[in-house]
Amino acid sequence: MKQKKTVTAVYPGSFDPITYGHLDIIRRAREIFGTIVVAISRNTAKTPMFSLEERKILIVQSLKEHSMTQDVHVETFSGLLADYLKQRGLTVVIRGLRFLSDFEYEFQMALMNRRLYPKMETVYLMPDEQHIYLSSSIVKEIAMNGKNPREFAPPCVTKALLKQAQLKNEK
Ligand code: COA
Repeated sequence: MKQKKTVTAVYPGSFDPITYGHLDIIRRAREIFGTIVVAISRNTAKTPMFSLEERKILIVQSLKEHSMTQDVHVETFSGLLADYLKQRGLTVVIRGLRFLSDFEYEFQMALMNRRLYPKMETVYLMPDEQHIYLSSSIVKEIAMNGKNPREFAPPCVTKALLKQAQLKNEK
């Protein structure tokens, strides 16, 4: 008998923009959890290329392009992740773990989040090794330097990045 998946998990990030690495994590999470909420937030340490609304549109389109819309919702939030989870009545967070260097930050964040909201649990998933070196900044940099980033990001994201690169060149 197939086990029924009921838990809803939140996958937070700035997703500026979403890449194949993020999609890989969502794909893996869907195998485990009933519903995934991709929760886009502002990382106060970063200056984004795309607005929250643009990032949301790109994630929804990317999910469509890869037939992954079922049981995946996309939302934006502001403020603390712990407060967002409390408000939504959710307790499980998914994070991707790429390198050992991710671990220290993730460990600190998971423990602080749990302090802020004791019911919160963070589950770590490892991306496929072909995506391990990806980050949104690297993909943006590739596009801004005139190379097509289609190997690293879904078609709609590639299109949006190339448009940004063209606008930059016209300035
Ligand atoms: N594939 C590809 N890239 C990945 C990836 C994966 N599987 N996992 C992470 N990355 C990339 C991201 O794109 C990001 O790239 P960038 O730095 O070039 O933008 C980088 O790795 C870091 O990712 P992440 O650690 O998820 O940072 P983020 O900025 O995307 O998200 C938040 C951080 C939004 C989850 C975090 O700041 C947050 O929770 N903010 C709300 C406030 C809060 O509660 N703070 C914590 C208090 S304890």
